[in-house]
Amino acid sequence: MKQKVDDARQQIEDAVLDSEEALESFRLTYLSRNGLFSSLFEEFKALPGPEKKEVGKPLNVLKVFAEQKFAQAKESLEEGKETIRSATDDVTLPVEPSALGSMHPLTLVRHEMTQLFMRMGFTVADGPEIEDDFHNFTALNFPADHPARDMQDTFFVRKGDRAEDRSDDLVLRTHTSPVQIRLMKEQKPPIRAIMPGRVFRNEAVTYKSYFQFSQVEGLVVDTSITMADLIHTLVTFAKMMYGDHIEYRVRSSYFPFTEPSIEMDVRTSSDADWMEILGAGMVDPNVLRAVDVDPDVYSGFAFGMGIDRICMLKYGFSDIRTLYENDLRMLSQFEHIGGVR
Ligand code: DAH
Repeated sequence: MKQKVDDARQQIEDAVLDSEEALESFRLTYLSRNGLFSSLFEEFKALPGPEKKEVGKPLNVLKVFAEQKFAQAKESLEEGKETIRSATDDVTLPVEPSALGSMHPLTLVRHEMTQLFMRMGFTVADGPEIEDDFHNFTALNFPADHPARDMQDTFFVRKGDRAEDRSDDLVLRTHTSPVQIRLMKEQKPPIRAIMPGRVFRNEAVTYKSYFQFSQVEGLVVDTSITMADLIHTLVTFAKMMYGDHIEYRVRSSYFPFTEPSIEMDVRTSSDADWMEILGAGMVDPNVLRAVDVDPDVYSGFAFGMGIDRICMLKYGFSDIRTLYENDLRMLSQFEHIGGVR
């Protein structure tokens, strides 16, 4: 009797119940009224006492196991049928669209500005956010210890924790102007490029200033480039960005790397406040010399625009911090990727 129970366990464990036919034949063989368990229990009843004790428990355990195996196999076969049925419903129906998030307003404005300048024939260049003193200041005609360096409160970067790792040489770039230097070292004129990127300044956080922001730098170098080319480019940009009705004014200013230097303000109507959106000027001959471009042959203009300001004016943000808090209530109002909300 014990041998019979062991054999039955082996067969039940090995049985593969992957179709309705296999399931039915399993039920008939083991679980039905004329199946193996019925006859084993009949036989069990007739056993003498001590043998009953030995076989009773394994026989019961095996029966429960066989019933569970049957029930589970039946359930998974039915689930399988369910999936096939729903898959054949209507495969031509459009899928439920899933939202992938939205473009950040700063990204939208950066893309738009890049597109506008590309239409004017500008290429796009890029540089590192961690800069050395030479590119961020010296080559841009900021002499060492010159007060002009204080125009931009700087974050310094240490290479490590040891005393010799501390130097003033590495900074988080305070503007995108160092990319001009990298570009002119790589490429000889004619140059007509923009350089968008993130910049950092050690400034108090208020509604109008933040410790990081974004700029689009521009540089044009060729023979006989003049201030008229600069102003024309900036005005064309402002009109394409905001529409023909935009009002602008150009003020003289100072930057170490341009001479003369200007700033440009815009406003959307005559009762709105002026907003400064860029600094610009004719590239200082010292900057050209620092990258081995002959200022007697070439001249150029450069500009640096604040993307944040341009974005705030375009979408009516009054607090720059809104652009960095990533509040979903703000973000979800912007163009959704795939056009889905
Ligand atoms: N780098 C300047 C700043 O961040 C902006 C600027 C002014 C860039 C004049 C220029 C320029 O290229 O010509 O304040």
